[in-house]
Amino acid sequence: MAELSGLKKKALTDIAAAADLEALEGVRVGYLGRKGEVTEILRSLKDVPLEERRRKGPEANALRKDITAALEARMNELKKGASAVARFDVTKPGHRPLRGHLHPLTKLEDEVRRIFASMNFSVVEGPEVESARYNFDALNIPANHPARDMWDTFWLTNDKTRRESSAIGHDLLLRTHTSPMQVRYMETHEPPFQIIVPGRVFRYEATDASHQFNFYQVEGLMVGPDVTLANFKFVIEKFYEKLFGSGIEFRFRPSFFPFTEPSVEVDIKLKGGKWLEMMGAGMVNRNVFDAVRYNPDKVQGFAFGMGLDRLAMVKYGIPDIRLLYSGDVRFTRQF
Ligand code: DAH
Repeated sequence: MAELSGLKKKALTDIAAAADLEALEGVRVGYLGRKGEVTEILRSLKDVPLEERRRKGPEANALRKDITAALEARMNELKKGASAVARFDVTKPGHRPLRGHLHPLTKLEDEVRRIFASMNFSVVEGPEVESARYNFDALNIPANHPARDMWDTFWLTNDKTRRESSAIGHDLLLRTHTSPMQVRYMETHEPPFQIIVPGRVFRYEATDASHQFNFYQVEGLMVGPDVTLANFKFVIEKFYEKLFGSGIEFRFRPSFFPFTEPSVEVDIKLKGGKWLEMMGAGMVNRNVFDAVRYNPDKVQGFAFGMGLDRLAMVKYGIPDIRLLYSGDVRFTRQF
């Protein structure tokens, strides 16, 4: 009895002290191997008197069981420790943590702001919820005029009669372009000045690879006693040069906008030789100056409005505008 419990104590101590799997195997062989101490005791049982065997047998078997269990527990412990060490390999290069960054449209807008700021333009912003007066009327787009159909509008009221009367508070909409800020700015400032207005705009239309119901524009407006379309051509040429590098080809194409006269559209030549429309522009219509109480005989100016998304698509080679709004990090991570 004393012999067995002494042996058990010794075995458990040895097992606990085994520092690795190899040492543990040595301990196992020492007790349970073919010539192990416990094995010897079990084997010797057949030579002892029946009486003693009955007493000692179960105890020796229990001892073997206990030692086996202790060995197994220690083995699992050592294995776990070993794999933890393997997982933490200090010589491995570290994982770069995934950090957030600016969206490609934000980056491009920042660049556009910087370029125009370098040409002495001020950057101003306007509200996304507008009134029909700023979005349409003051821009020479009267209610019921077919020109309003150029902009598919998200109205904030369903009351068609009231909104067409442009009644205050009933003519709210999501701005369809950044042009209303032209009016807001001129109402509160005197020329000469030059501004750009970056911002989000909304159109009530179906989406496809080149259309979104919300997108970004940058409006431009320069007014003074003798600002001409030639000034616009210079400014826009410098802008494209700074954005794309020199040698970018662009052209003016006659067009129509209610708030400019004459009006043009500006196309740039893509790598494949195709022309792509990039912005609308023109000389500010006298009716717009009238609406903000400027004297159209004393001041003149140019205005332009460009789509930031389209610019991003050209600059970064993005095939589908919807990618910009997908929120998919596999896409945004590339910029
Ligand atoms: N607001 C026009 C649009 O969204 C773009 C535009 C055209 C803006 C001509 C201008 C301009 O300032 O002069 O379709």
